[in-house]
Amino acid sequence: MASSQAIGFFDSGVGGTSIWKEVRRLLPNEHTIYLADSKNAPYGPKGKEKILELSHKNTRLLIEKGCKLIVVACNTATTNAIDELRSSYPISFIGIEPAIKPAALQTRTGVVGILATEGTLSSQLFHKTSNLFANDIEVVEQIGDGLVELIEGGEVSSREMYTLLNKYIRPMVKAKADHIVLGCSHYPYLIPTLRRMLPPAMKIIDSGEAVARQTKSVLEKHDLLNDSVGTRSLQFFSNSSNIDVLKSLINENVEVNYLDF
Ligand code: DGL
Repeated sequence: MASSQAIGFFDSGVGGTSIWKEVRRLLPNEHTIYLADSKNAPYGPKGKEKILELSHKNTRLLIEKGCKLIVVACNTATTNAIDELRSSYPISFIGIEPAIKPAALQTRTGVVGILATEGTLSSQLFHKTSNLFANDIEVVEQIGDGLVELIEGGEVSSREMYTLLNKYIRPMVKAKADHIVLGCSHYPYLIPTLRRMLPPAMKIIDSGEAVARQTKSVLEKHDLLNDSVGTRSLQFFSNSSNIDVLKSLINENVEVNYLDF
């Protein structure tokens, strides 16, 4: 493994770019390759076996493309597949999980809300983390049905999005939650919309920065941080025939290509 190799990312679609941006901010010297498996979005309702199969497919492609480390930029894939990925490939994986721990530590009302996919909320890994850190607080869990599909279509503040979010946040607000944990890498794109809807004191927590810090520390540990100078290669591949949403969310001059994977 060489430090000049790229960091790989995959997600069920465009959402993992929210994680990519945090990694890019912290590690601007790194080459990156991102796979948006939008053709198969959403992963959330698919069940563990299918999520495992898709995670293996994405991982194999990133390894073929020469990545030195893989960021599983999807909570649903992390919570259902990361243990198996780690035991199947000789490469480091960084996962993303709902940030339930900081929310549980910071809450004053003793109630936190969590918005995530069905696949994440029903996973063993989520239950383990939740039992470990949130045993003595109330956690209001909510499946974000339909949100990923709207974001994949570029809708982050449409009327339909408002209607869904309103339905999903109401029980949390009613239960006096003072934090809402965004447990899906697509959801940070909803922060401006959520901010307009939530009580001003309610904190929104996502895991992007923590994932970037963890990526840096694992690369450091394996002596794989890229410290060379020169142009960075930032490649994006999507298997959706419409790559415009992906392009508009990245909002940086990068290479976005269609690839049938
Ligand atoms: N970005 C994925 C996640 O973090 C979305 C999952 C889905 O496609 O349902 O969970």
